[in-house]
Amino acid sequence: MLVSTATYTTILASALVLFASSNLTPAAEAHSWMDCVNWKFHSRTNPDFSDKGGYCRGYARRYPKDLNFGTLDDASPSRHYQQAGNPNTALPCSDRRHGKDIGSDETMGDPVSSAYGGKYGEMATIRSGETLCVRWPAKNHAEGNEDNTIVQINLIKSRNSQDATQAELLRNTIARLPYKNCSRGSGTDKKPCGGCFKMPARSPGLYLLQWRWMLNPGEWYTSCADIQIEDDKRGNKRRL
Ligand SMILES: *[C@@H]1O[C@H](CO)[C@@H](O)[C@H](O)[C@H]1NC(C)=O
Repeated sequence: MLVSTATYTTILASALVLFASSNLTPAAEAHSWMDCVNWKFHSRTNPDFSDKGGYCRGYARRYPKDLNFGTLDDASPSRHYQQAGNPNTALPCSDRRHGKDIGSDETMGDPVSSAYGGKYGEMATIRSGETLCVRWPAKNHAEGNEDNTIVQINLIKSRNSQDATQAELLRNTIARLPYKNCSRGSGTDKKPCGGCFKMPARSPGLYLLQWRWMLNPGEWYTSCADIQIEDDKRGNKRRL
């Protein structure tokens, strides 16, 4: 078949337009993680998860706090961690070696506090009964055509030298948050999102808090943070 030069030029031009517009839209397959486990809003009346709207008083494990929000997809190591195999028995926190996406490192510190401070963010301290807000970047999954998927928050008392199993964490879900709860932000990739819930009464001590997001059925991404829980504000010593 003969294609005229004019037709050919038109086809070429459309292909270029398609190529250019797809380049403007960031990769749709980017995946998320929790950066902050204790976000503080500057304003109660206008709560905002963007860097302008507040600050972080407690990070995920080994979180490189000096990197710009939402930018860790291509960093080495990258941040997101997709659990591989059966999500009920998969490793709960990334260790650079396991998972569908290898690289992210949220290994428990030895001591636990060594995963915080210096180049990493600080560890969170929370009181029972306090409202806790956690934050994550949208990574293009908070748009109108995306399902409002679920973020689980799992909380379990820390043990020496080894994290609880995923099965144990799943018996300790304390909150379910809508993924698409986002503030205004630059673009669809780095839009800041988050959720807030009341910290249930727990005996004081060190806990593992797991953020666990289901992007597609059975496809889970996790982030882990150690948090120190203190007695509630009224000084009640509730022991559960
Ligand atoms: C949604 O985000 C706002 C801040 O923009 C926050 O105040 C609210 O608690 C969040 N909702 C949920 C269900 O977490």
